[in-house]
Amino acid sequence: MDLFRTKTVERSIEETDEPEHKLKKELSAWDLTFFGVGVVIGTGIFVLTGQQAYTNAGPAIVLSFVVAGIACGLAGVCYAEFASTVPVAGSAYTFSYATLGELIAWIIGWDLVLELALGAAVVSRGWSAYLQNLLDLPTWLAGDDAKPDIGAIAIVLALTALGVLGTKLSGRVTGVLVVTKVAIVTFVVVAGLFFIKWANYSPFIPHSTSKVPGVTEESTLLQSVFGIDPSHFGAYGIVAAASVVFFAYIGFDIVATSAEETKNPQRDVPRGILGSLAICTVLYMAVSFVITGMLKYSDKRLNTAAPLAEAFDANGAGWASKIIDIGAVAGLTTVVLVLMLGQARVLFAMSRDGLLPVALAKVHPRFGTPYRITIITGVFVAILAGIVPLAELSKLVSIGTLFAFVLVSAGVIILRRTRGDLDRPFRVPAVPWVPILAILSCVWLMVNLSVDTWIRFVVWLLIGFVLYFTYGYRNSRLGRGLKQAKADGDVPTAGS
Ligand code: ALA
Repeated sequence: MDLFRTKTVERSIEETDEPEHKLKKELSAWDLTFFGVGVVIGTGIFVLTGQQAYTNAGPAIVLSFVVAGIACGLAGVCYAEFASTVPVAGSAYTFSYATLGELIAWIIGWDLVLELALGAAVVSRGWSAYLQNLLDLPTWLAGDDAKPDIGAIAIVLALTALGVLGTKLSGRVTGVLVVTKVAIVTFVVVAGLFFIKWANYSPFIPHSTSKVPGVTEESTLLQSVFGIDPSHFGAYGIVAAASVVFFAYIGFDIVATSAEETKNPQRDVPRGILGSLAICTVLYMAVSFVITGMLKYSDKRLNTAAPLAEAFDANGAGWASKIIDIGAVAGLTTVVLVLMLGQARVLFAMSRDGLLPVALAKVHPRFGTPYRITIITGVFVAILAGIVPLAELSKLVSIGTLFAFVLVSAGVIILRRTRGDLDRPFRVPAVPWVPILAILSCVWLMVNLSVDTWIRFVVWLLIGFVLYFTYGYRNSRLGRGLKQAKADGDVPTAGS
């Protein structure tokens, strides 16, 4: 069994030219930066900032955003090199196919479902809750344990239709919503500055403690391996919060999934990835600084579903909370849209390779989008968002994403060794050190996630292995090509 057969970079690029699988090339660096900011700024900044300041970091939550931002920046440059070298839809999946082999590529594609489809479902729930707040809609619309979340289902299906109609159109809608979202986040920072009480920043890094009111303790993998009791605050609290607020950065990597639809991917994809990451890091640091200045970190109102609005309410500026609701509804719409577009692109690449049924990789003759896989993704996400209890599953989104970052960073080192000859319009500096640092920082954030999350993650990967051995291995286009070459008497080599 050749589980590590690789597909050459040249072949990956050639296959994007087959007429029935050809995507339209119409995106620019601006579109990509909008996509990036559109998908990155979402639930993380609107919800997790306050919660993590209250439970783990205090005002030092600003530093947690810096720590998570550095890990993402290191992984981001690795994505940028890959996307400029292999500008093919599928992102981490495609990169792994060219370096680590088919089995790992499949597993990474399978793993990305956690980031993209599950992420879209989690965020669409948040969207539904904010819409209900904004418009004072009847509560049954957002569902509960017994009833489906109609709001979440509706937004997912509407955005699926948009995804089928055209990537450029999705880009335009994203553009309008992203401007609204960035304007409102900037408003939070500027308006919030007037309410800062400097005393709230003291202590900046609160002393470590074993209990915080209203918070249930959960051991991280690291704590349970070393038999350490769960704790909050202190230096460790900053890292623990970084592992959670990492969620806020998820999405910049999705820019790489649009490489194949970009006019000049070698130049524009790195710009899109690093540009959106830089914009988001600055905004996140500013928002978390202002919010912890407006409300003392130990104030329970930070540990709610809408901490930004609470901070304004607490300072007698309740009028601002409606504006924040508008920002959240606009903001979360684009997150769901881009996550689903990314998911469809990854599954599209996997179907084109035969690891999933190849008929799914059909492109719409008029709209030029992978419509079949887009519709299947939409229905799957709508079911998850509508009826599956997601509160616990949401942490799987982060672990799945971090795992993809680790493999992509490792892939950069491998591809430099195996294919030093390739043209790399964007190069990671100081290889192998930068990718090694990226791997270490992502693994560090992973071991700071809970044991339960790790167990669910391993179970998900095991299901993926079963599917590969029962379907993908036998139907892989690369595998069938190699078999054919053998039958014809050619000497097959993996990767040819
Ligand atoms: N980064 C995205 C968010 O925070 C997933 O909602």
